[in-house]
Amino acid sequence: MSTTTSAAMATPQATATVRPLGILAALPQELGDLIDAMRAESGVHTVTHGRRDYHVGSVRGTPCVVTLARVGKVAAAATASALIHAFDVEAIVFTGVAGGVSRDVHVGDIVVASTLLQHDIDASPLFPRFEVPLLGMSRFSTDTALAERLAAACERFVAEEGAACAARFGTREPRVHRGLIVSGDQFVASAAAVGALRDALPDALAVEMEGAALAQVCYEYGVPCAVVRTISDTADDHAPTSFMSFLTEIAGTYSNAILARFLDAPRGAG
Ligand code: ADE
Repeated sequence: MSTTTSAAMATPQATATVRPLGILAALPQELGDLIDAMRAESGVHTVTHGRRDYHVGSVRGTPCVVTLARVGKVAAAATASALIHAFDVEAIVFTGVAGGVSRDVHVGDIVVASTLLQHDIDASPLFPRFEVPLLGMSRFSTDTALAERLAAACERFVAEEGAACAARFGTREPRVHRGLIVSGDQFVASAAAVGALRDALPDALAVEMEGAALAQVCYEYGVPCAVVRTISDTADDHAPTSFMSFLTEIAGTYSNAILARFLDAPRGAG
């Protein structure tokens, strides 16, 4: 079953007894089969709001609102804000791919953010580089319990299917990392650019284009969030081709496997 309404008709917060979980990705391949799974389980009610389609239903028994942020920090911030205000989500999880920044992070690895930072924000000398002016912060934390549950789901996926995935996709056996993810409105695709990121932010594990914007909006509204990224490339000169093949051939498999285990875990469980 599928139904569609405009935003003006959307009143999920007026009727829902349990606040839904918001699930976001930038691109359709990064969501895997999530919307189809929702369609099969509960039917999907699609609400169009701010030029995006928000799919409302339930996945593995969890009421969810699933949507595509599209690419970049503004897109992520706008979508996060709509999930909070128009859909009254209880928490937001972002799933997708990222470029590896740390030399220890390889294609096929998974990074769960504990903090996120905008690597391209720079109002110096008025404010320190990386600080969000007037908020006095550069690093935004994810929710500890949500990130713990997401990382546990990733660890289970790696234990159960990591070796098979590596053989199927020709990658190393995946590892799960936790730490800093940096975001900016750039696709990082040169040895010089990723080297500059490493120099400026030695603890950065991965780079993408949305997560820190989501984390800032969630911080400002007191909504828990978590971000999981599978490494599609190492942000160097090979990044465009590595990214495209990973996105089309592998990203959905990881996303399906991680989200299924995440949604099946009891809340509060690591
Ligand atoms: N997402 C995936 N790979 C990326 C890269 N190299 N730069 C920015 N975002 C990315």
